[in-house]
Amino acid sequence: QTPPLIDPFARAITYLRVSVTDRCDFRCVYCMAEQMTFLPKRDLLTLEELDRLCTRFIGLGVRKLRVTGGEPLVRKGIMTFFDRMGRHLESGALDELTVTTNGSQLARFAPDLAAAGVRRVNVSLDTLDDRKFAEITRWGRLAQVLQGIEAAQAAGLRVKINTVALKGTNDDEIHRLVEWCNDWGMDLTFIEVMPMGDLGNEDRLDQYYPLDRLRADLATRWTLTETAERTGGPARYFRVSETGQRIGFITPLTHNFCESCNRVRLTCTGQLYMCLGQDDDADLRAVMRGGASDEALAAAIREAIARKPKGHDFDYSRQRVEGQVGRHMSTTGG
Ligand code: GTP
Ligand code: 5AD
Ligand code: SF4
Repeated sequence: QTPPLIDPFARAITYLRVSVTDRCDFRCVYCMAEQMTFLPKRDLLTLEELDRLCTRFIGLGVRKLRVTGGEPLVRKGIMTFFDRMGRHLESGALDELTVTTNGSQLARFAPDLAAAGVRRVNVSLDTLDDRKFAEITRWGRLAQVLQGIEAAQAAGLRVKINTVALKGTNDDEIHRLVEWCNDWGMDLTFIEVMPMGDLGNEDRLDQYYPLDRLRADLATRWTLTETAERTGGPARYFRVSETGQRIGFITPLTHNFCESCNRVRLTCTGQLYMCLGQDDDADLRAVMRGGASDEALAAAIREAIARKPKGHDFDYSRQRVEGQVGRHMSTTGG
Protein backbone atom coordinates (compact mmCIF):
# COMPACT_ATOMS: atom_id res chain seq x y z
CA GLN A 1 0.00 0.00 0.00
CA THR A 2 1.41 3.41 -1.03
CA PRO A 3 1.64 5.79 1.91
CA PRO A 4 -0.70 8.79 1.66
CA LEU A 5 0.48 12.26 0.69
CA ILE A 6 1.35 14.14 3.87
CA ASP A 7 2.61 17.72 3.83
CA PRO A 8 5.15 19.32 6.21
CA PHE A 9 2.35 20.38 8.57
CA ALA A 10 1.02 16.83 8.92
CA ARG A 11 -1.97 17.54 6.67
CA ALA A 12 -3.08 14.62 4.50
CA ILE A 13 -3.68 15.68 0.89
CA THR A 14 -6.81 13.88 -0.26
CA TYR A 15 -8.45 16.52 -2.47
CA LEU A 16 -7.25 17.48 -5.94
CA ARG A 17 -8.71 20.42 -7.82
CA VAL A 18 -7.99 20.18 -11.53
CA SER A 19 -8.36 23.14 -13.83
CA VAL A 20 -8.94 21.72 -17.31
CA THR A 21 -8.93 24.98 -19.27
CA ASP A 22 -7.97 28.62 -18.74
CA ARG A 23 -10.84 29.70 -20.97
CA CYS A 24 -14.24 30.87 -19.86
CA ASP A 25 -17.29 32.15 -21.67
CA PHE A 26 -17.79 34.80 -18.94
CA ARG A 27 -15.32 37.36 -17.53
CA CYS A 28 -16.35 37.84 -13.91
CA VAL A 29 -14.88 41.11 -12.74
CA TYR A 30 -13.13 39.65 -9.68
CA CYS A 31 -11.75 36.66 -11.59
CA MET A 32 -10.45 37.70 -15.03
CA ALA A 33 -9.50 40.85 -16.90
CA GLU A 34 -11.86 41.79 -19.71
CA GLN A 35 -9.12 41.18 -22.30
CA MET A 36 -7.44 37.88 -21.59
CA THR A 37 -4.77 36.15 -23.66
CA PHE A 38 -5.53 32.46 -23.60
CA LEU A 39 -2.96 29.70 -23.84
CA PRO A 40 -2.13 28.00 -27.13
CA LYS A 41 -3.36 24.43 -27.36
CA ARG A 42 0.09 22.81 -27.28
CA ASP A 43 0.63 24.18 -23.77
CA LEU A 44 -2.46 22.42 -22.43
CA LEU A 45 -2.26 18.95 -21.01
CA THR A 46 -4.00 16.58 -23.39
CA LEU A 47 -6.96 14.62 -22.04
CA GLU A 48 -4.66 11.58 -21.89
CA GLU A 49 -2.07 13.50 -19.87
CA LEU A 50 -4.78 14.77 -17.53
CA ASP A 51 -6.03 11.22 -17.09
CA ARG A 52 -2.54 9.93 -16.37
CA LEU A 53 -1.75 12.64 -13.82
CA CYS A 54 -5.07 12.45 -11.97
CA THR A 55 -4.88 8.66 -11.90
CA ARG A 56 -1.43 9.01 -10.33
CA PHE A 57 -2.81 11.33 -7.66
CA ILE A 58 -5.63 8.91 -6.93
CA GLY A 59 -3.04 6.17 -6.58
CA LEU A 60 -1.35 8.38 -3.99
CA GLY A 61 -4.46 8.74 -1.84
CA VAL A 62 -6.57 11.49 -3.41
CA ARG A 63 -10.24 10.65 -2.68
CA LYS A 64 -11.98 13.76 -3.97
CA LEU A 65 -11.49 15.24 -7.41
CA ARG A 66 -12.97 18.56 -8.45
CA VAL A 67 -12.89 19.70 -12.04
CA THR A 68 -12.60 23.48 -12.48
CA GLY A 69 -11.38 25.99 -15.05
CA GLY A 70 -11.77 28.70 -16.35
CA GLU A 71 -15.08 27.17 -17.20
CA PRO A 72 -14.45 23.41 -17.30
CA LEU A 73 -17.41 22.61 -19.52
CA VAL A 74 -16.07 24.68 -22.43
CA ARG A 75 -13.06 22.37 -22.84
CA LYS A 76 -13.53 20.28 -25.97
CA GLY A 77 -14.04 16.59 -25.31
CA ILE A 78 -14.12 17.06 -21.54
CA MET A 79 -16.81 14.42 -21.05
CA THR A 80 -14.24 11.80 -22.04
CA PHE A 81 -12.19 12.92 -19.05
CA PHE A 82 -15.21 12.75 -16.72
CA ASP A 83 -15.96 9.24 -17.98
CA ARG A 84 -12.40 8.14 -17.29
CA MET A 85 -12.42 9.60 -13.80
CA GLY A 86 -15.80 7.98 -13.26
CA ARG A 87 -14.08 4.61 -13.52
CA HIS A 88 -12.17 5.41 -10.34
CA LEU A 89 -15.51 5.94 -8.61
CA GLU A 90 -16.65 2.54 -9.79
CA SER A 91 -13.49 0.85 -8.58
CA GLY A 92 -13.84 2.56 -5.19
CA ALA A 93 -10.51 4.37 -5.54
CA LEU A 94 -12.29 7.73 -5.55
CA ASP A 95 -15.08 8.92 -3.24
CA GLU A 96 -16.26 11.96 -5.11
CA LEU A 97 -16.02 13.47 -8.58
CA THR A 98 -17.40 17.01 -8.75
CA VAL A 99 -17.30 20.14 -10.82
CA THR A 100 -17.38 23.87 -10.17
CA THR A 101 -19.01 25.64 -13.07
CA ASN A 102 -20.57 28.94 -14.06
CA GLY A 103 -23.58 26.93 -15.18
CA SER A 104 -23.69 28.24 -18.74
CA GLN A 105 -23.21 24.79 -20.34
CA LEU A 106 -25.11 22.70 -17.80
CA ALA A 107 -28.28 22.45 -19.83
CA ARG A 108 -26.20 20.59 -22.40
CA PHE A 109 -23.96 18.50 -20.16
CA ALA A 110 -25.90 17.72 -16.96
CA PRO A 111 -27.12 14.27 -18.08
CA ASP A 112 -23.61 13.26 -19.21
CA LEU A 113 -22.12 14.44 -15.93
CA ALA A 114 -24.63 12.38 -13.99
CA ALA A 115 -23.90 9.37 -16.19
CA ALA A 116 -20.18 9.73 -15.49
CA GLY A 117 -20.84 9.46 -11.75
CA VAL A 118 -20.98 13.12 -10.71
CA ARG A 119 -23.50 13.51 -7.87
CA ARG A 120 -23.28 17.21 -7.10
CA VAL A 121 -22.11 20.37 -8.82
CA ASN A 122 -21.20 23.81 -7.50
CA VAL A 123 -22.56 26.66 -9.58
CA SER A 124 -21.15 30.18 -9.23
CA LEU A 125 -23.94 32.72 -9.08
CA ASP A 126 -23.62 36.11 -7.40
CA THR A 127 -26.95 37.73 -8.19
CA LEU A 128 -30.51 37.03 -9.32
CA ASP A 129 -30.78 40.35 -11.10
CA ASP A 130 -30.35 40.23 -14.90
CA ARG A 131 -28.68 43.58 -15.15
CA LYS A 132 -26.25 42.97 -12.29
CA PHE A 133 -25.50 39.50 -13.62
CA ALA A 134 -24.50 40.99 -16.96
CA GLU A 135 -22.31 43.54 -15.15
CA ILE A 136 -20.50 41.03 -12.97
CA THR A 137 -19.92 38.48 -15.74
CA ARG A 138 -19.42 41.26 -18.31
CA TRP A 139 -21.72 39.57 -20.85
CA GLY A 140 -23.26 36.48 -19.28
CA ARG A 141 -27.00 35.79 -19.45
CA LEU A 142 -28.67 34.86 -16.19
CA ALA A 143 -31.49 32.94 -17.89
CA GLN A 144 -28.97 30.55 -19.43
CA VAL A 145 -27.52 29.72 -16.02
CA LEU A 146 -30.96 29.26 -14.47
CA GLN A 147 -31.82 26.81 -17.24
CA GLY A 148 -28.56 25.02 -16.51
CA ILE A 149 -29.41 24.70 -12.84
CA GLU A 150 -32.83 23.33 -13.69
CA ALA A 151 -31.29 20.81 -16.05
CA ALA A 152 -28.80 19.74 -13.40
CA GLN A 153 -31.57 19.11 -10.90
CA ALA A 154 -33.62 17.28 -13.50
CA ALA A 155 -30.61 15.03 -14.12
CA GLY A 156 -30.52 14.19 -10.41
CA LEU A 157 -27.48 16.32 -9.55
CA ARG A 158 -27.41 18.15 -6.23
CA VAL A 159 -26.60 21.80 -6.80
CA LYS A 160 -24.73 24.09 -4.42
CA ILE A 161 -24.60 27.78 -5.21
CA ASN A 162 -21.36 29.72 -4.63
CA THR A 163 -21.81 33.44 -4.11
CA VAL A 164 -18.88 35.82 -3.75
CA ALA A 165 -19.98 38.53 -1.30
CA LEU A 166 -19.51 41.90 -3.00
CA LYS A 167 -20.18 45.12 -1.10
CA GLY A 168 -22.32 47.51 -3.08
CA THR A 169 -23.17 44.81 -5.62
CA ASN A 170 -25.02 41.93 -4.00
CA ASP A 171 -25.03 42.78 -0.28
CA ASP A 172 -28.63 43.97 -0.68
CA GLU A 173 -29.64 40.63 -2.19
CA ILE A 174 -28.48 38.05 0.29
CA HIS A 175 -31.90 37.46 1.87
CA ARG A 176 -33.37 36.90 -1.55
CA LEU A 177 -30.56 34.51 -2.48
CA VAL A 178 -31.11 32.53 0.72
CA GLU A 179 -34.85 32.26 0.03
CA TRP A 180 -34.36 31.38 -3.60
CA CYS A 181 -31.87 28.61 -2.79
CA ASN A 182 -34.21 27.28 -0.14
CA ASP A 183 -37.09 27.22 -2.62
CA TRP A 184 -34.97 25.22 -5.03
CA GLY A 185 -33.60 22.91 -2.34
CA MET A 186 -30.01 24.05 -2.82
CA ASP A 187 -27.18 24.69 -0.38
CA LEU A 188 -25.71 28.17 -0.59
CA THR A 189 -22.13 29.14 0.21
CA PHE A 190 -20.85 32.67 0.55
CA ILE A 191 -17.20 33.45 -0.23
CA GLU A 192 -15.00 36.37 0.78
CA VAL A 193 -13.38 38.02 -2.21
CA MET A 194 -9.66 37.25 -2.40
CA PRO A 195 -6.91 39.46 -3.83
CA MET A 196 -5.87 37.42 -6.85
CA GLY A 197 -4.92 38.73 -10.27
CA ASP A 198 -3.92 42.26 -11.04
CA LEU A 199 -7.41 43.71 -11.07
CA GLY A 200 -6.92 46.91 -9.08
CA ASN A 201 -6.44 46.87 -5.34
CA GLU A 202 -8.72 49.76 -4.57
CA ASP A 203 -11.62 47.96 -6.23
CA ARG A 204 -10.84 44.89 -4.17
CA LEU A 205 -11.02 46.75 -0.88
CA ASP A 206 -14.17 48.53 -1.99
CA GLN A 207 -15.78 45.20 -2.88
CA TYR A 208 -14.76 43.33 0.24
CA TYR A 209 -17.69 42.37 2.44
CA PRO A 210 -16.59 40.40 5.52
CA LEU A 211 -18.83 37.40 6.09
CA ASP A 212 -19.29 37.99 9.82
CA ARG A 213 -21.16 41.13 8.81
CA LEU A 214 -23.16 39.23 6.20
CA ARG A 215 -24.03 36.58 8.77
CA ALA A 216 -25.13 39.21 11.26
CA ASP A 217 -27.42 40.60 8.57
CA LEU A 218 -28.91 37.14 7.96
CA ALA A 219 -29.36 36.69 11.71
CA THR A 220 -31.75 39.65 11.80
CA ARG A 221 -34.22 37.40 10.02
CA TRP A 222 -33.20 33.78 10.55
CA THR A 223 -31.78 31.72 13.37
CA LEU A 224 -28.44 30.32 12.30
CA THR A 225 -26.81 27.47 14.19
CA GLU A 226 -23.30 26.32 13.41
CA THR A 227 -23.00 22.63 12.58
CA ALA A 228 -20.04 20.28 12.44
CA GLU A 229 -21.05 19.17 8.92
CA ARG A 230 -18.30 19.36 6.31
CA THR A 231 -18.10 18.53 2.63
CA GLY A 232 -14.33 18.13 2.49
CA GLY A 233 -13.83 21.74 1.35
CA PRO A 234 -13.14 24.96 3.26
CA ALA A 235 -16.73 25.95 4.08
CA ARG A 236 -18.13 26.06 7.62
CA TYR A 237 -21.84 25.30 7.59
CA PHE A 238 -24.75 26.77 9.51
CA ARG A 239 -28.34 25.54 9.57
CA VAL A 240 -31.28 27.89 9.31
CA SER A 241 -33.54 26.70 12.15
CA GLU A 242 -36.71 27.96 10.49
CA THR A 243 -36.23 25.99 7.25
CA GLY A 244 -33.47 23.45 7.85
CA GLN A 245 -31.53 24.99 4.95
CA ARG A 246 -27.75 24.77 4.97
CA ILE A 247 -25.60 27.87 4.43
CA GLY A 248 -21.83 27.72 4.07
CA PHE A 249 -19.23 30.39 4.75
CA ILE A 250 -15.79 30.44 3.13
CA THR A 251 -13.79 33.00 5.05
CA PRO A 252 -10.14 33.14 4.01
CA LEU A 253 -9.91 36.70 5.33
CA THR A 254 -11.83 36.66 8.61
CA HIS A 255 -11.52 33.06 9.75
CA ASN A 256 -8.46 31.30 8.38
CA PHE A 257 -8.95 27.61 7.58
CA CYS A 258 -5.47 26.70 6.31
CA GLU A 259 -4.77 24.54 9.33
CA SER A 260 -7.17 21.91 8.01
CA CYS A 261 -6.16 22.24 4.35
CA ASN A 262 -6.40 18.94 2.47
CA ARG A 263 -5.98 20.10 -1.13
CA VAL A 264 -3.65 21.06 -3.97
CA ARG A 265 -4.37 22.43 -7.43
CA LEU A 266 -3.36 21.29 -10.87
CA THR A 267 -3.56 23.80 -13.73
CA CYS A 268 -4.46 23.00 -17.31
CA THR A 269 -0.75 23.23 -18.20
CA GLY A 270 0.25 20.72 -15.55
CA GLN A 271 1.59 23.10 -12.91
CA LEU A 272 0.83 21.95 -9.41
CA TYR A 273 0.08 24.79 -7.00
CA MET A 274 0.49 23.73 -3.42
CA CYS A 275 -1.56 26.68 -2.12
CA LEU A 276 -4.20 28.92 -3.68
CA GLY A 277 -2.63 31.94 -2.01
CA GLN A 278 1.05 31.33 -2.82
CA ASP A 279 3.09 31.35 -6.02
CA ASP A 280 5.18 28.23 -5.63
CA ASP A 281 4.39 25.55 -8.19
CA ALA A 282 5.84 22.35 -9.60
CA ASP A 283 6.00 21.65 -13.33
CA LEU A 284 4.51 18.18 -13.68
CA ARG A 285 4.01 18.61 -17.41
CA ALA A 286 7.78 18.89 -17.87
CA VAL A 287 8.24 15.76 -15.79
CA MET A 288 5.69 13.85 -17.86
CA ARG A 289 6.83 15.14 -21.24
CA GLY A 290 10.40 14.33 -20.22
CA GLY A 291 9.37 10.69 -20.36
CA ALA A 292 9.08 10.00 -16.63
CA SER A 293 7.87 6.60 -15.47
CA ASP A 294 4.84 6.37 -13.18
CA GLU A 295 7.21 5.98 -10.22
CA ALA A 296 9.19 9.08 -11.22
CA LEU A 297 5.94 11.01 -11.63
CA ALA A 298 4.78 9.91 -8.17
CA ALA A 299 8.14 10.97 -6.76
CA ALA A 300 7.78 14.42 -8.34
CA ILE A 301 4.31 14.75 -6.79
CA ARG A 302 5.64 13.78 -3.35
CA GLU A 303 8.48 16.26 -3.67
CA ALA A 304 6.02 19.03 -4.48
CA ILE A 305 3.73 18.16 -1.56
CA ALA A 306 6.76 18.29 0.72
CA ARG A 307 6.94 22.02 -0.11
CA LYS A 308 3.32 22.87 0.66
CA PRO A 309 3.31 26.14 2.60
CA LYS A 310 1.42 26.71 5.82
CA GLY A 311 -1.17 28.96 4.21
CA HIS A 312 -2.00 32.16 2.39
CA ASP A 313 -1.09 35.70 3.47
CA PHE A 314 -4.25 37.44 2.21
CA ASP A 315 -5.06 40.34 4.49
CA TYR A 316 -7.10 43.53 4.18
CA SER A 317 -7.16 44.32 7.87
CA ARG A 318 -4.90 47.38 7.64
CA GLN A 319 -7.13 48.87 4.99
CA ARG A 320 -4.76 47.84 2.27
CA VAL A 321 -4.38 44.70 0.23
CA GLU A 322 -1.69 42.34 1.45
CA GLY A 323 -0.65 38.88 0.36
CA GLN A 324 -1.90 39.51 -3.16
CA VAL A 325 -1.17 36.80 -5.70
CA GLY A 326 -0.48 37.88 -9.28
CA ARG A 327 -2.14 35.05 -11.17
CA HIS A 328 -5.84 35.20 -11.84
CA MET A 329 -8.28 33.02 -9.96
CA SER A 330 -9.12 31.40 -13.29
CA THR A 331 -5.65 29.77 -13.45
CA THR A 332 -6.47 27.44 -10.59
CA GLY A 333 -10.27 27.64 -10.55
CA GLY A 334 -10.44 28.85 -6.94
P1 GTP B 1 -17.45 21.45 -1.63
O1 GTP B 1 -17.02 20.12 -2.11
O2 GTP B 1 -18.88 21.73 -1.97
O3 GTP B 1 -17.10 21.70 -0.20
O4 GTP B 1 -16.66 22.50 -2.52
P2 GTP B 1 -15.40 23.39 -2.28
O5 GTP B 1 -15.75 24.54 -1.41
O6 GTP B 1 -14.23 22.58 -1.91
O7 GTP B 1 -15.17 23.87 -3.78
P3 GTP B 1 -15.64 25.13 -4.58
O8 GTP B 1 -15.11 24.98 -5.95
O9 GTP B 1 -17.09 25.36 -4.42
O10 GTP B 1 -14.81 26.25 -3.84
C1 GTP B 1 -15.39 27.44 -3.50
C2 GTP B 1 -14.36 28.51 -3.40
O11 GTP B 1 -13.76 28.46 -2.13
C3 GTP B 1 -13.17 28.40 -4.31
O12 GTP B 1 -13.44 28.79 -5.58
C4 GTP B 1 -12.23 29.35 -3.65
O13 GTP B 1 -12.62 30.65 -3.95
C5 GTP B 1 -12.49 29.02 -2.20
N1 GTP B 1 -11.53 28.03 -1.76
C6 GTP B 1 -11.58 26.69 -1.95
N2 GTP B 1 -10.52 26.10 -1.42
C7 GTP B 1 -9.76 27.09 -0.90
C8 GTP B 1 -8.54 27.11 -0.25
O14 GTP B 1 -7.90 26.10 -0.06
N3 GTP B 1 -8.05 28.30 0.14
C9 GTP B 1 -8.72 29.44 -0.06
N4 GTP B 1 -8.17 30.58 0.36
N5 GTP B 1 -9.90 29.48 -0.70
C10 GTP B 1 -10.40 28.31 -1.11
N1 5AD C 1 -12.27 35.76 -4.62
C1 5AD C 1 -13.13 34.82 -4.17
N2 5AD C 1 -13.76 33.94 -4.95
C2 5AD C 1 -13.52 34.02 -6.26
N3 5AD C 1 -13.99 33.28 -7.27
C3 5AD C 1 -13.41 33.73 -8.40
N4 5AD C 1 -12.58 34.76 -8.14
C4 5AD C 1 -12.64 34.97 -6.81
C5 5AD C 1 -12.00 35.87 -5.92
N5 5AD C 1 -11.13 36.79 -6.37
C6 5AD C 1 -14.95 32.21 -7.12
C7 5AD C 1 -15.98 32.09 -8.21
C8 5AD C 1 -16.36 30.66 -8.14
C9 5AD C 1 -15.16 29.98 -7.59
C10 5AD C 1 -14.52 29.07 -8.55
O1 5AD C 1 -14.26 30.99 -7.19
O2 5AD C 1 -17.09 32.89 -8.02
O3 5AD C 1 -17.46 30.43 -7.31
FE1 SF4 D 1 -4.94 25.50 1.75
FE2 SF4 D 1 -3.53 27.53 0.85
FE3 SF4 D 1 -6.20 27.52 0.76
FE4 SF4 D 1 -4.94 27.83 3.03
S1 SF4 D 1 -4.94 29.21 1.29
S2 SF4 D 1 -6.66 26.53 2.73
S3 SF4 D 1 -3.21 26.43 2.73
S4 SF4 D 1 -4.79 26.17 -0.34
